[in-house]
Amino acid sequence: MTGTIIPVRTASASYDVEIAPGLLAEVGERVAALLPAGPRMFVVTSPGIWALHGEAFLKGFATAPTVLEVPAGEQHKRLATVERLAEQMAEAGADRDSVLIAFSGGVLGDMTGFLAAGYMRGIRYIQVPTTALAQIDSAIGGKTGVNLAAGKNLFGAFHHPLAVYADTAVLATLPDAELRAGLQEAVKAGIIRDRALFEYMDEHSETVLAGDVAALTHVIAESVRVKAKVVAADEKESGERMLLNLGHTLGHAIEAATKYKALLHGEAVAWGMLAAIGIAERRALVTTDEAERMGRVIRAYGPLKNFSANVGDLVALTAKDKKNRSGSRSFVLPIGIGDATVVRDVSPAELTDAAEAMMELRGEQVTA
Ligand SMILES: NC(=O)c1ccc[n+]([C@@H]2O[C@H](COP(=O)([O-])OP(=O)(O)OC[C@H]3O[C@@H](n4cnc5c(N)ncnc54)[C@H](O)[C@@H]3O)[C@@H](O)[C@H]2O)c1
Ligand SMILES: [Zn+2]
Repeated sequence: MTGTIIPVRTASASYDVEIAPGLLAEVGERVAALLPAGPRMFVVTSPGIWALHGEAFLKGFATAPTVLEVPAGEQHKRLATVERLAEQMAEAGADRDSVLIAFSGGVLGDMTGFLAAGYMRGIRYIQVPTTALAQIDSAIGGKTGVNLAAGKNLFGAFHHPLAVYADTAVLATLPDAELRAGLQEAVKAGIIRDRALFEYMDEHSETVLAGDVAALTHVIAESVRVKAKVVAADEKESGERMLLNLGHTLGHAIEAATKYKALLHGEAVAWGMLAAIGIAERRALVTTDEAERMGRVIRAYGPLKNFSANVGDLVALTAKDKKNRSGSRSFVLPIGIGDATVVRDVSPAELTDAAEAMMELRGEQVTA
């Protein structure tokens, strides 16, 4: 079997993302072909994922990799966990040729990439993402890191994987809310760069959300294509890559205001996208029809869960966004459907209006 292969080519790295249902059982063969010298391998995963899919994962490996387990949860995405894993690797005899495999969602994926960036000043690693969010977004592009008490992802490095293998069939065991939240990043990819993807997600929302593996594979592959293109154009996020932050300025503010407990990341981004679309509509960057259509699709991949926050707090939190440069707030706005731009002149008043409009929607949006 050969899945859809999407090349990622940046100034510092060149690798392929392969996407197919059932790919998991072939990862071992793929890795053996990629690394004929047969290095020591370490797989970082969490007990829940390993229990569900460890057996399929091991199928293609002639020699089983050493398993390093980390409990699931964002609270473990810390330097202390990276240190513990590095010590375990050293104790087990990992050397500079050893290879790490992240077999997990984005939390462990980011952390494993960072572990690989630092272990013996940098070793190779492979991503085998198991959530929609990780397959669409976090496993690609080389951003790795951990959280600090002061904020999310504040400590990390750019370190690209050697390859990414995304088995879309493993999404069948993902909780429904995680699937829907992850797919909001695909809606985002469509809005910023790929009208055909957006239209597909609109027309096939029921099939995609029912977990139809062909439909899911299409959506994930097309989203990866968007991310690969954006990252190729701007690896270190000085321009184009910022487009991936559509919905994230207010999304991150909502996550911070609710202490990361009320909403999943994609759910917060969905709210943030609605607000950004509102600003774009008021600036006549999108028509009312386009704004309504985008809102409808975002809600189709909801439900958008209710949350409590104060508009003033949300606006204040956007000023602290780590994407801001030299005090000016960057904001991504759609231009029609399939294009977007980064602006730096969204005023606090405009943002307050958008946040208020978003907060007013909450009561109506509790169900799909
Ligand atoms: N590096 C990047 O460019 C980038 C981009 C976006 C997000 N991120 C990061 O990604 C993280 C979020 O990742 P996530 O949404 O994948 O969350 P996650 O890794 O926490 O996974 C969500 C939950 O699903 C479970 N799970 C994973 N795969 C499963 C499966 N197939 N079946 C059943 N359960 C499964 C996990 O154990 C976890 O409990 C955040 O830390 C965020 O900062 C990074
Ligand atoms: Zn995101």
